Amino acid sequence: MSLTRRQFIWTAAASSLALPRTVEGLWAQEKPGASAGGSRFQHGVASGDPLGDRIILWTRVTPRAPSATQPISVRWRIGADAELRRVVSSGTTETAAARDFTVKVDAAGLVPGTTYYYAFDIDGEQSPIGRTKTFPVSGAERMRVALVSCSNYPAGFFNVYAGIAKRTDLDAIVHVGDYIYEFGEGEYGGGAAINRIPQPPRESVTLADYRARYATYRTDPDLQEAHRLFPFVAVWDDHELANDAWAGGAVNHNPEKGEGDWATRKAAGYKAYLEWMPIRESSEPGIHLYRTFRFGTLADLVMLDTRGLRDKQVSNTDAAGLADPKRTLMGAAQEAWMFDQLRASQRANTPWTLLGQQIMLAPISLLGMWSINTDGWDGYPAQRGRVLDFIERERIRNLVVLTGDAHSSWGFDIPRNPWNGYRTTGEGSLAVEVVTPAISSPPPLMFSSTNGTEAAAAVRVALPHLKYLDGVRRGYVVLDVTPTLVRADWYYSPDVRIHSDAEVAGGSLVCERGSAHLQPA
Ligand SMILES: [Fe+2]
Repeated sequence: MSLTRRQFIWTAAASSLALPRTVEGLWAQEKPGASAGGSRFQHGVASGDPLGDRIILWTRVTPRAPSATQPISVRWRIGADAELRRVVSSGTTETAAARDFTVKVDAAGLVPGTTYYYAFDIDGEQSPIGRTKTFPVSGAERMRVALVSCSNYPAGFFNVYAGIAKRTDLDAIVHVGDYIYEFGEGEYGGGAAINRIPQPPRESVTLADYRARYATYRTDPDLQEAHRLFPFVAVWDDHELANDAWAGGAVNHNPEKGEGDWATRKAAGYKAYLEWMPIRESSEPGIHLYRTFRFGTLADLVMLDTRGLRDKQVSNTDAAGLADPKRTLMGAAQEAWMFDQLRASQRANTPWTLLGQQIMLAPISLLGMWSINTDGWDGYPAQRGRVLDFIERERIRNLVVLTGDAHSSWGFDIPRNPWNGYRTTGEGSLAVEVVTPAISSPPPLMFSSTNGTEAAAAVRVALPHLKYLDGVRRGYVVLDVTPTLVRADWYYSPDVRIHSDAEVAGGSLVCERGSAHLQPA
């Protein structure tokens, strides 16, 4: 949907990562940018997609000459200590212009549930030292992740990443999309006043554009630090491609303006995303980002792509289109895969299944009060119906949906129909949903306008399954998972137009195992 339309629619093992002081001191001297060796590693280091025995390590080499064409050999090391004296695995890999000089290694042979340190070097010049952690394969009593989305560079400082980087209690950072925005400067937030104009200043369309855009974002010191300290588990949303993307196009893709054909642009956006993100790449052809992570016997984290494989959005007045049972948000293969994942998690009696995905699943449209957001699950009711049918039929319990996109904070019970057959005590709820706010993107006009407070009050009254709402603040969620309880704590940056790592606590909700119901903590 256009930005105007988006705004219109809305108007209608906890301490195991604690660092010894000596290590903190060491890292303080080695912060990206402060390192004398920063010239070849200007975009920092990152890790991601932790499994029990392996993890993706990432960096990018800045070539000596911008026009460099020769492959560059890069050594990597991963070890058990912060000074990399006890290396457990190492190797040499090559990067080249064909992959924008990004480096991705799937470091294997690691021990589950263990903190590691890693670095890259070229000709004796070393990258910053990163820290990461494998997921456990059994016996986990606690998992703690930060849930983030919607990091728009010109709209504000990445204070949220700075706040997260200060934490010592996370196993991973789960990013559910809009890691970059494709817009040109001033089209959706202006960065001139705070010296945050993204490259290229125009809209990103080509492979070179998307690569330059990721490079801009990765020069941000707060984002670099978050990547350096925690593994990411990421999926994309529309803005890694173009606003309101679907499999065959996007609202913000305009061939008549010289933007070329969609297939080329989509392939470019996907290639740049894989190059720059610490994601384990699928061997399947085409776009394939959905994947599952098991956190010991405590939780399964199922990551969906509801963006790159979906059918086109329809108008919110197109009743026949909305009701069309053939329309899909994820494609038949991913849907079957998702059902397999949920079923397997249930059959293994895993206490929690976490479903990381992009858009709000809980029904929020109330015809006659405001329009349906047809870019969300509300715009694909048949698809949502199939998922809820499956949850009910297969008795899927303890499902927590993790969502971004909304640029506002929400907590929901998920009943089939909030206005019929659901009680606010949780009866009739099939799952719960936690929606993280934006890192820096502007909040919906509905809540940020002069009538925002009244709008929020009206929404609270209209939605019996709504358990938490903050319409305006930028921040993130810490999700704390134990065998009997999932707890969601929202944290907010006081002002993203001022660079600061300060944060304030927001709401807190808990879901007891077996309840499918969110309550105040
Ligand atoms: Fe967003």
